[in-house]
Amino acid sequence: MSAPFVGVEGVQALLAGAGYVADDGLASAVFLAYSLPQPLLVEGEPGVGKTELARALAAGLETTFIRLQCYEGIESREALYEWNYLQQLLEIRARESAHSGESAGGTNLFTWNFLQPRPLLRALLESDERAAVLLIDEIDRADEAFEAFLLEFLSDFAITIPELGSVRARVPPVVVITSNRTRELHDALKRRCLYHWVEYPTLERELEIVRLRAPDVGRALAEAVALAVRRLRALDLQKPPGVAESIAWARAVRALGYRELTPHVARQSLGVAIKNRDDWERAVESVDAWLAG
Ligand SMILES: Nc1ncnc2c1ncn2[C@@H]1O[C@H](COP(=O)(O)OP(=O)(O)OP(=O)(O)O)[C@@H](O)[C@H]1O
Ligand SMILES: [Mg+2]
Repeated sequence: MSAPFVGVEGVQALLAGAGYVADDGLASAVFLAYSLPQPLLVEGEPGVGKTELARALAAGLETTFIRLQCYEGIESREALYEWNYLQQLLEIRARESAHSGESAGGTNLFTWNFLQPRPLLRALLESDERAAVLLIDEIDRADEAFEAFLLEFLSDFAITIPELGSVRARVPPVVVITSNRTRELHDALKRRCLYHWVEYPTLERELEIVRLRAPDVGRALAEAVALAVRRLRALDLQKPPGVAESIAWARAVRALGYRELTPHVARQSLGVAIKNRDDWERAVESVDAWLAG
């Protein structure tokens, strides 16, 4: 099948069609991840669009989107597959009663009918005609053993189920792995991936994102919010606002019925962008100073 885009600009256009604004660096990384193919590891501050990238890519490629949300203590069976014990039990009962109390000992209970595929296996099964997009989100939350377990999957795009044999994708899925860098990832994992650090967008790009995501907000208000968020990020806050907060702030001001970001309006709606008390005090002071000036 021919690629659904031509070059890096083609990737940018494909993502833009799905409501995602990617700069050259990120679009190049996606282009390579798709073309080589190789998993793409994206790191960056919260709210810079890591998760959304995978979602938009699947939408743009018109393919299945599969997400594995990582968390502390996640186990491999939750990522691969589980046997449906309840259904197996019901099957045994049904066969016993059909054979009036005889044991259903010879029944094979380890067939595809009783298997519940979890995200990694689903990604292999669904990458059939075209590659599915598999998002392994927030890998840094999982423990190191889980990360090690992923290595084999990422190298071979195959899974062995002892009772059923090996499952391989007809075409390798497009894999996006995200991390918020709460811990350093293993070199072994990094070696298998392309890497991209997602920066906060430039002012122009953030304005573009806000306009795209909140089309009801006028240009002047979108600009004022994008600028205010940029200044807040420069304050060295504990939780600097991400792109999601810019969009939400612009929408909130409109919802309150304003078209301008005055100090009064900013205070009234600041809770959309700032989520920490110490940050709040610093932000209020600064916002008053910029907007009044
Ligand atoms: N480049 C972008 N183009 C369009 N929308 C964006 C972009 N970046 C961020 N967004 C918007 O910001 C929201 C938050 O992005 P997302 O959830 O992907 O951030 P994240 O980096 O995964 O954050 P976290 O680390 O907190 O999970 C998205 O739902 C989307 O609306
Ligand atoms: Mg995310």
